[in-house]
Amino acid sequence: MKNVLVVYYTQSGQVVEIAQNVVRKLEKSSKIHVSYHKVKPVNNYNFPWKKDNFFDVFPESFLQIPCKLEEPQPDVLTKKYDLVILAYQIWYLTPSIPINSFLKSDEAKVLLKDTPVITVIGCRNMWIQAQEKMKVLLNKVQAKLV
Ligand SMILES: Cc1cc2nc3c(=O)[nH]c(=O)nc-3n(C[C@H](O)[C@H](O)[C@H](O)COP(=O)(O)O)c2cc1C
Repeated sequence: MKNVLVVYYTQSGQVVEIAQNVVRKLEKSSKIHVSYHKVKPVNNYNFPWKKDNFFDVFPESFLQIPCKLEEPQPDVLTKKYDLVILAYQIWYLTPSIPINSFLKSDEAKVLLKDTPVITVIGCRNMWIQAQEKMKVLLNKVQAKLV
């Protein structure tokens, strides 16, 4: 049995829908078990955005300043996985604040060390700079981007 974990954050539901489409075939296999972990900021970013809030997150997004996250479910994040699928959105040419915060957490360091990671992006087609930043974040936790 192979264990796959989907780590994601979503505001509108788009990113998780994309991730679910990606793993649909894996979920049908009797040899693969797929679990999900949603990253949850303590102060959630409400959707739809108010104009001021939308522009207010620009500095923290672009400078990659993390926010506080809720404690993760211990049963999901204390295991090791054969594959982690990291589904994320771009905010201002950067991995979104919740995803950046997760990658800088102690849990991510344990979870992702030496683990193959596939990244899946939901965005509006301006993503290359963000994926370059993602490579650095994954490198810092010694994940294996595949
Ligand atoms: C604050 C903010 C900044 C964004 N910046 C970018 C960007 O730089 N490049 C891009 O392609 N999309 C950008 N987007 C679009 C999101 O990546 C896209 O809407 C994504 O699907 C959101 O997924 P979610 O609703 O599941 O969280 C931005 C969206 C928000 C809310």
